[in-house]
Amino acid sequence: MTTAFAPNAAHDAGGAIADQYIEIRAFDGPVGAEVLGLDLSKPLSPQNFARIHRAHLDHHVLVFRDQRITPDEQIAFSRRFGPLQIHVLHQFQLPGYPEVLVVSNIVENGQPIGLGDAGHYWHSDLSYKEKPSLGSLLHAQELPAEGGDTLFANMHLAWDTLPAHLRSAVEGRSAEHTYLAKYAELQKRSPWRPNLSAEQIAQVKPVVHPIVRTHPETGRKALFVSEHFTTRVIGLPEDESRQLLDEIFAHSVRAEHVYRHRWAEHDMVFWDNRSLMHLAAGTPDHLRRKLYRTTIEGDVPF
Ligand code: SIN
Repeated sequence: MTTAFAPNAAHDAGGAIADQYIEIRAFDGPVGAEVLGLDLSKPLSPQNFARIHRAHLDHHVLVFRDQRITPDEQIAFSRRFGPLQIHVLHQFQLPGYPEVLVVSNIVENGQPIGLGDAGHYWHSDLSYKEKPSLGSLLHAQELPAEGGDTLFANMHLAWDTLPAHLRSAVEGRSAEHTYLAKYAELQKRSPWRPNLSAEQIAQVKPVVHPIVRTHPETGRKALFVSEHFTTRVIGLPEDESRQLLDEIFAHSVRAEHVYRHRWAEHDMVFWDNRSLMHLAAGTPDHLRRKLYRTTIEGDVPF
């Protein structure tokens, strides 16, 4: 499906921000759309902001191709949707830009320049915070010749198709999320991962969120647990909790719920963490990959 929006001449005539002609082209799949005609280095008109906002709610992942934008422009666009969150691993901020997390496997002078194993497990960004992320934006800086894809799973579909026995097992229940759940395991794989200071640990105290959350803007329900950050179902014995979570994780990422993004140079991808989980499929070690991520704060899940 394609939705086209013509420029608003009256708005242009008023000397305000010129509208750009944009098209929203839905992917033939469970999630996602491409936005054509928008140059994110230019200020966004109120009309186009409203169109992008609507498309983000409808399609959950938006792909903007060939965006030659600076970190300042990425930050400015991201801020239109809400305040930005600063990642606890300040070691991997883009110098001078605390709002930008460098996602990269590149090592320079013996030091990693970014979080090389970000997204190694399925997750929703910052679900371990009281206010998890509304959405995230990744802007491609340097891409490998092979690998490096990002997968997105539609958690509304996962909920809609959840077998009845699993639905009744999770309805009304909550689960714990913690940033530390897999930290030690990741540190073993990636020894460059820093030890966390007491201050960093204090920033990521475990939180409890409903397993089935209601999207605050659309009212749609979605599963909100992930293999990366969810550790247990509150009120269940450990073995039952583990089994239930494993079954939900396996169901959530069934192929029919997943869109695979194959990155192209200068892609900007903007997704909804309230509707999706995502996964970095991995990059061969000898190939370089670098992206800049901004993360928008969301609401307390309900
Ligand atoms: C992330 O989880 O935010 C990073 C995803 C990716 O590198 O593809």
